[in-house]
Amino acid sequence: MSGPARPRAAVVGSMNTDLIVRCAQLPRPGETVLGGDVVRVAGGKGGNQAAALARLGVPTSMVACVGRDELGGWLTAQLAAQGVDTSMMQRSARPSGTAFITIDATGENEIVVAPGANADLVLDDVDLGAFDVVLAQMEVASEIIDALAQRTSSLILNVAPSRVVAASTLARCAVVIANELEARSLGIHELRHCVVTRGRGGAVHYRFGEVVAESSAPVMDVVDTVGAGDVFCAAYAARFVEGEEPDAALHFAVIAGALATTARGARGRLPTTEEVEQWRARAS
Ligand code: RIB
Repeated sequence: MSGPARPRAAVVGSMNTDLIVRCAQLPRPGETVLGGDVVRVAGGKGGNQAAALARLGVPTSMVACVGRDELGGWLTAQLAAQGVDTSMMQRSARPSGTAFITIDATGENEIVVAPGANADLVLDDVDLGAFDVVLAQMEVASEIIDALAQRTSSLILNVAPSRVVAASTLARCAVVIANELEARSLGIHELRHCVVTRGRGGAVHYRFGEVVAESSAPVMDVVDTVGAGDVFCAAYAARFVEGEEPDAALHFAVIAGALATTARGARGRLPTTEEVEQWRARAS
């Protein structure tokens, strides 16, 4: 006998090939430094969040646009192998998105994204009606974000990378997730639901400017913070869609994000729900 249908998630966002080089110190403007060998992995905030959601057991569909180039096929295949439904993927004539990532000896990073085909994503034929939560980020055209906010009341928007977002769009989101810099530049603490991540300092949930939940991060041996924010967003969305209370959802997401920092690459350590629950039980 089959149980009740599991809530479904759609991730609308970017897919990039991450080209990663590690060096002792990040170069200053105008400076050239030598680094290690280039590593190529599948990334993009959207793709990372979709892969993390699927790993947490949430049936997840990806709505994204990649190029008709070889990397577009590779990115799609990587995501499908991670358990994400890619039947809604689009392809365009532009090159697939690429992220150039430099990481220093302390784990600090700098990222430049060439969006390419991500900028060609269209929502015309996309039916969002089947999804209980939609998770989006800012590596696609801002018109896409505005349209999503109009079309679903279950939009969780991760405002990364920080870009101008219409106040009306922000106000329509079920939850907006930002890091401290993004939250400050957008002035979003006064929203209905705003979650601010603070790296090793955990995260805070604001409701109309009031703190309604706060969670500190467990101490981990940090190897690479690239993609940790994506795992946080996915984990938060996974609990949101199950109707979990803000403080419990925040704690779950903080632990998942912290676990993600313990391996290299944006998808190097995608935690399962059981792993996060073990840490949650230990901390309580
Ligand atoms: O959040 C990490 C991601 O940001 C990387 O995978 C890179 O592709 C950029 O989109």
